[in-house]
Amino acid sequence: MSGIGRATNPACSQEDRGGLPTLLRLANLIAVSLLLLGAPARAQPAASVASPGNVLAVAVTLSPEGKPSYSVSRHGVVVIAPSRLGFLLTDAAKLDRFLSLAGQWTRSFDDTWEQPWGERRFVRNRYNELRVRLTERAHARRSVDVVFRVYDDGVGFRYEFPDQPSLRQVNIAEELTEFAVADPATAWWIPAGEWNRYEYLYETTPLAEVAQVHTPLTMRTDAGLHIAVHEAALIDYAGMWLRRVEGQRLRAVLAPSSQGAKVSRTAPFHTPWRTIQIADSAGGLAMSDLILNLNEPNRLGDVSWVEPFKYVGVWWGMHLDRQSWGSGPNHGATNANVRRMIDFAAEHGFRGVLVEGWNQGWDGDWYNEGAVFSFTRPHPEFDIEALAAYARSKGVRLIGHHETSGHVANYESQLQPALDLYERLGIDSVKTGYVADGGGIQALGADGSLRFEWHDGQLMSRHHLMVVEEAARRRITINPHEPIKDTGLRRTYPNWVSREGARGTEYDAWGSPPNPPEHVPELVFTRMLSGPMDFTPGILSLEGRGQPLQSTIARQLALYVVIYSPIQMAADLPENYEAAMAPFQFIKDVPTDWEDSLVLNGEVGDFVTFARKDRNSEDWYLGSVTDEEARTLTVELDFLNPRRTYTAQIYRDGAAADWEVNPRDFVIERRQVASGDSLTLRLAPGGGQAIRFVAGRRR
Ligand code: NOJ
Ligand code: CA
Repeated sequence: MSGIGRATNPACSQEDRGGLPTLLRLANLIAVSLLLLGAPARAQPAASVASPGNVLAVAVTLSPEGKPSYSVSRHGVVVIAPSRLGFLLTDAAKLDRFLSLAGQWTRSFDDTWEQPWGERRFVRNRYNELRVRLTERAHARRSVDVVFRVYDDGVGFRYEFPDQPSLRQVNIAEELTEFAVADPATAWWIPAGEWNRYEYLYETTPLAEVAQVHTPLTMRTDAGLHIAVHEAALIDYAGMWLRRVEGQRLRAVLAPSSQGAKVSRTAPFHTPWRTIQIADSAGGLAMSDLILNLNEPNRLGDVSWVEPFKYVGVWWGMHLDRQSWGSGPNHGATNANVRRMIDFAAEHGFRGVLVEGWNQGWDGDWYNEGAVFSFTRPHPEFDIEALAAYARSKGVRLIGHHETSGHVANYESQLQPALDLYERLGIDSVKTGYVADGGGIQALGADGSLRFEWHDGQLMSRHHLMVVEEAARRRITINPHEPIKDTGLRRTYPNWVSREGARGTEYDAWGSPPNPPEHVPELVFTRMLSGPMDFTPGILSLEGRGQPLQSTIARQLALYVVIYSPIQMAADLPENYEAAMAPFQFIKDVPTDWEDSLVLNGEVGDFVTFARKDRNSEDWYLGSVTDEEARTLTVELDFLNPRRTYTAQIYRDGAAADWEVNPRDFVIERRQVASGDSLTLRLAPGGGQAIRFVAGRRR
C-alpha cells in the first residue's frame, strides 16, 4: 500500500497524501448526497471519490446490517444505483454482510505511457483511487478491500484479499457483485454459458429482458448515455458473466469450474477489475483506454521483436470446403501450395503465411478428440524445415498453427517442444485454437484425471497466460481462436497480439446465417471494447461456401480500419486478389499499427467511421461501415495535419451498390484534400468506404 495515505479515523477520514483538492471533495459530497436519494433508506455513506475532471463519482455505502454497496453518478446523476458487493464461499460463511468500514484511503494518479503497438501510441492514465477496507464486525472478523479507480470515462474496481489467518485459502462459489443500471436502457448482448462460446450474433433488447450474457455488455439509456460493463486484467480467476436478477439489476456469475469452487486462490490476491465505461456517445466507449489502463505495465521488457503485420494463408480454401485440413486430394498444406502462398506473400508485401492442416491429427475426428494432435510432427506433405527456410529467404515468415480442439491436457504436454520447434525455425507467431463446445475444454486435474472446463474458467485464464509466457520466452506472439475474452492483458504481455472471440469472417463462408451487415457496427461497440480481434477480412470475391457475403467490395476494405488488430489477414484466395488488383491495393497499403485512432461518428449496430494515423508515416486512413441501411455521413477532415495537403485515395461504394443486389459496384477515385475540408461518405446498404490520405508537401 505504499504511497497511499492512511486515515487514522475511518469515520471521518480523508486522504492525507496525494489526495483530492478541497473543491473536488465538496463537489463529491454533493454528488454523494444525490446518490443517497436512490439508496436504501437507512444506508450510511461510508466513502466516496470523484474522477479527476469531476465527471463521475463513486460512493460506497453500508446498510445497517453491514451490507456494502457502491453506486456511480455522472455529473451528479445516478448511473449505477446502489449495487451489492461480496462473495459466496464454498467452505465458509458468505462474505457480504456484518461488515464495517475499517479504513479508507485515496490517492490520485496521472501518467502517460507508450504502447509498443496499438490503436494509439500514447495513453493517458489519470484517475482518483479510493480503497475501502471492509471488516466483519463479529464472527471471524474477515477483511476484504475494495479498490475503486475513477476516471472521467469510467470506473474500475476490484476486491483485494489481504493475508489474514481467518481467510487464507479463498474458495469462491460465486461473486455477488452487482451492476444496477439506474435508467431504462437498451442492451446489445450475446448469451453466456452456451455451447458456441462467444460466437453468437448480437441481440438488441431492452436491458430488462436479458438473461445471462457475456461482457462487454453495451447499453444505451433512453436519455442517450452509453454504458459498457466488462472486466480488466483477468488473471488466475474465472471470467465474469452477467445475469439479470430483476429489473435492470445485473449480477456477476463466474464461469464454472468442475472443481466445486469457481475460483480457488490463496490470500493475498486480488480479483480482476470490474469495469463500467460511461460516455455520451457510442464513440466515447470505443475511444476509452480504461481497460488497458487498468492492466499492469509491460512485464516482458524489450518487446521490439513484437511486430505488427499482415498475413495471408492456407485457410479460406478450407472454409470454402475446396481444400481440406486433413490428408486427401485437396489437402491444403502441401509443399507446392505453401510455396505458392509464400511467393504471393513476398510479391505483395505480406510478412506472414498462416498454414493450417500442417501437422498430424487432422485425419481423425479432431473436433471431438483433440488428443489426436501432434504439435511437432508435420504432415508428410509439409516439409516444415524447407518451407520455413524458403519463406525466410523471401523475407516472409510462416505462421504456426496449434489447433488444440480444446484438449488442453494434450497441448500442455507438448507445449515446450512445440514452441521450441517454431523458435528454431524462425516461426515467430502462432495462432492457437480451442475448437470445443462451451464446457468442453479437457484438462488434467491435480490427481491426473481428465476434467471438463469452460473456455473462460479459472483454469483457462491460467492456461492462456502460461502459453503466452512460454511463447514470450522464445520471442513468439500468440493469437488464440476460441479464446478466453480479452481483458487488456496485451499491455502486460505485448506478445498476446490478437484473438478471435466473436463471429469472424469464417461465418461468411459457412455460417447460418452469415454475418449480417449490422454485425460489424455491433462488434465495434461490444466485443471490440475488450481489445483487438483477428477478424480475417478482405474477401474480395464476396463469395462464401455457396452463399454470398452480406457485404460490398468497399466494405471489405473498410474493415481493415474499422476492426483493430495489430495482425490482419488478407483472407481471400490469391487468385481472387489477382482478379481484383485495384481494391487489393488498399489491403496492401493499409498499416496495422497506429499513432492515433479516432471515432468520427457511430451508433451501436448502425454505422461507424474511424480515422487512424499510421505510426510510421504521415498518412491517415479512414474506414466506415453501415448496417443494411444506406447512409450519407459527412466527416470533417480536421484530424489531418494542417501544414500538409493530402491525396485522398477513395475506395467507395458505387451509386447503385447494395450488398443484396449489386455488391460489386465499386469506385476508386482521387481527390486533393486538406484539414478544414469535409467529405461526404455515401455508404450503400451493407456497404462501406475506405480512404488512404497520402500526405503530400508541406503548406
Ligand atoms: C476455428 C478458427 O476460428 C478458424 O480460423 C480455424 O481455421 C479453425 N478453427 C480450425 O482450426
Ligand atoms: Ca472460430
